[in-house]
This record gives sequence, structure tokens and C-alpha cells, in this order.
Amino acid sequence: MLYRTMGSTDIDVSVLGFGCMRLPVIGGKPDAIDYPAATEMLHHAIDNGVNYVDTAYFYHAQNFGSAGSSEPFVGEALSGGWRERVNLATKAPVFLIKESDDFERYLEEQLTRLRTDHIDFYLLHGLTGESYDRMAALGALEFLDAARADGRIGHAAFSFHGEAADFPRIIDAHEWAFGQIQYNYMDVDYQAGHAGLRYAADHGTGVVVMEPLKGGKLAANLPPEVLSIFDRAATKRTPAEWALRYVWNESGVSLALSGMNTMEQVVENLEIAGRGVAGSLTAEVLAMFDEARSVMRARVKADCTACRYCQPCPSGVEIPNVLASLNAATVWNDPNPWLTGYTQVTGGASLCSECAQCEDICPQGLPIRDLMSEAATLFGR
Ligand SMILES: NC(=O)c1ccc[n+]([C@@H]2O[C@H](COP(=O)([O-])OP(=O)(O)OC[C@H]3O[C@@H](n4cnc5c(N)ncnc54)[C@H](OP(=O)(O)O)[C@@H]3O)[C@@H](O)[C@H]2O)c1
Repeated sequence: MLYRTMGSTDIDVSVLGFGCMRLPVIGGKPDAIDYPAATEMLHHAIDNGVNYVDTAYFYHAQNFGSAGSSEPFVGEALSGGWRERVNLATKAPVFLIKESDDFERYLEEQLTRLRTDHIDFYLLHGLTGESYDRMAALGALEFLDAARADGRIGHAAFSFHGEAADFPRIIDAHEWAFGQIQYNYMDVDYQAGHAGLRYAADHGTGVVVMEPLKGGKLAANLPPEVLSIFDRAATKRTPAEWALRYVWNESGVSLALSGMNTMEQVVENLEIAGRGVAGSLTAEVLAMFDEARSVMRARVKADCTACRYCQPCPSGVEIPNVLASLNAATVWNDPNPWLTGYTQVTGGASLCSECAQCEDICPQGLPIRDLMSEAATLFGR
């Protein structure tokens, strides 16, 4: 296992972190974690050098927004001496926090669920510019400072799913150990993106990468044209290795989380992590990723540049976001609302009243009414 120092802390973390969001479950039920299988995987990873475990209040919940079974699982799996061997990260459930006292209440509940007296890295979960402002107004930063001072939190951090422009101002707002961002060779300019990664690193803040395999799509669903690009490389690697190596090639990345759900994936990713040296990919190899990205982007349905001329829509449709999800669905041939980001679209396509105001103004000349109709059918709203 390779280790990197987390931002400006003195903590060395394994380049591979164990994400506890996609653990094996029984009977397809999201909250029914297969304890024996998942425990064996987690212990194997720790025995082979993983020293970072990521969970959250919501992970493995039956319904989105309720308490999940990931934290209690992690609490049990790390009991009996394992807890002391890892840095434990979990997240304040930002979407549920409505008043200042909620911070304290959820932290105490999470300590109990995790069977520990401290959380090494405590994140504000899934921030956007808007939710950060709401948390700051409720006193989140003061709360995090106080919980650090009394030892219940080792370091404060945040995960981010907002617009690129909001990432630097959140980085600048506090002494964060890291920002956690969605990053992989397809998402270099999505959300925080490569610019955000470099901004954090240049300011001494760590970067934890989530979705390095785009939730598995970069490992299992690559179109044949993309596979043939990687086949040209002198050294043969699996699609999972290409994707993980791309992330670890960045010196600003502290660690990449993977939400592994089989022992085979744990074994493979542990092995790949041993080669995850920053700057180890040649210019020739990096050009392959650019080519792969272009090929995949050529599969997009609507050539929307997100100029936002169409916004605000009189009916409240978030047209650029709907189109981004529609494009993701066609690139990956999968309308999964999580994969495509449609879960975060509040102004869904079915709100479209076909007034055509957007079509009159769209610089790309897109047939937006038809595209909204297609998206509404595909995503069900
Ligand atoms: N804070 C947030 O807002 C947030 C959001 C997302 C994620 N996260 C955290 O970040 C972690 C990582 O994100 P992620 O789970 O999306 O990571 P990921 O590595 O992009 O995707 C994990 C999926 O990739 C596939 N996979 C992993 N290793 C593989 C291998 N060697 N070969 C083939 N397929 C492989 C598996 O999917 P299949 O077996 O289904 O193909 C697995 O479920 C999560 O577990 C969670 O802890 C946080």
C-alpha cells in the first residue's frame, strides 16, 4: 500500500480508502448489509494497508434521507481492535439539519452508531454553494471548531456536489483537512473538477476523491471504441486500473475512495493501489484518456454548453441540468438517476409547458421541448 499525507495534517492515509456506500446486501434490500461478507472485505482491506474508512448517516438507507445501516455496520465491524487501526470518516447529514442544535444531536447519535468516542474526519455532507451558506448561517464552522476542541472530531472536512465556482470559496472559508470531490477521467470539468482539485492542493488542503470509477461505469460499461483505445497501450491493464491510476496520477489527490462490493474488487483494487504513484503516467498514456473522453462525449444526445441563456425557465425546468442527465444516460446507456445526477435536479423535465421560450434563445438551436419530453419519459418526472 502507498500512503500520502492528508493536506496540511500530519496524518498519512492509504491511497485507497474503503467507501461503505455500496456494501454487499442481502435480497437486494439497500439496508440489509451482508455483515459476514462485508466484514471480511473490510478486514482484508485493513490487513493489507487500508487505513481510511468512509461512511455517512444516509448510506444504506431504505429510503433516501433516513438513517442508513452503514454506520451501525461500520461500528460493529471495527469493534474488537479494528477501529484503532483506521482513520474513520463520517458526515453530518446536511439535508436534515434545520437548526443549530441539530449538529450536536446528529454527532452524538453518530458516535453511538459508530461505537466510538471520536471521528477522525467529520464532513459536512454533499455541500453546494446554497447548502454551505445555510450551514454557515446555522453555525456549522463554530460547531466543528468546538467539537474539535473537545476531541470528538479530529478534523473537519466537507464533500461537495455543487457548481465549480462555489468550491474555492468553501475551501477558503475554514481550516478543512480536505474537500471530497467527484473526480475521474470523465468528470474533469464536472462540479469541482480538475480546477477545484488544483485549487485545494495549492492551498494546502487535502483532496479525497469519490466515484473514481464513476460508480463502476468506468470499470464495466465502457463502449468498445473506448476499450480499443486502451488496448493500444503497451502495458495491458483492466479498465478499473486505468481509471484508478488516472486519479492517483494527480499529486494533489490524498486518497481515492472506492465503494467495493465484492472481495474480488477489494483484492484487485488493493493490488492496483500499490502502483498508484503520482506522476507515473506518461504523456502518451494521458493522451489516451483525452481520446477516450472525446469518444464518450461524442455519444451525447444534446450539445448543451450550459450557457444558461434558457434560465430561468418560466415553468421552473432546470433545462441545462436535465440535459446533462439526459446526456449521461445516453453516454452510459443507463438512466439510473444517481449515475446521471437526476436525483439532484429539482426542476424536472415534466414541468415543461412547451412555451418554446428557451428554443427561441438557445444559441445551440436545440429542440428543447422534444428533449424535455424524452427526459420526462426516461426519468419518470
Ligand atoms: N459524500 C458524498 O456525497 C459521496 C457521494 C458518492 C460517494 N461517496 C463515497 O465515496 C465512495 C466511493 O464512491 P463510489 O462507491 O461511487 O466509487 P467507485 O469506485 O467509482 O464505484 C464503486 C463501484 O465500482 C465497481 N468497482 C469497484 N472496484 C472494481 C473493480 N476492481 N473492478 C470492477 N468494478 C469495480 C463496483 O460496482 P459494481 O460491482 O456495481 O459494478 C463498485 O460498487 C463511496 O463508497 C462513498 O463512501 C460519497
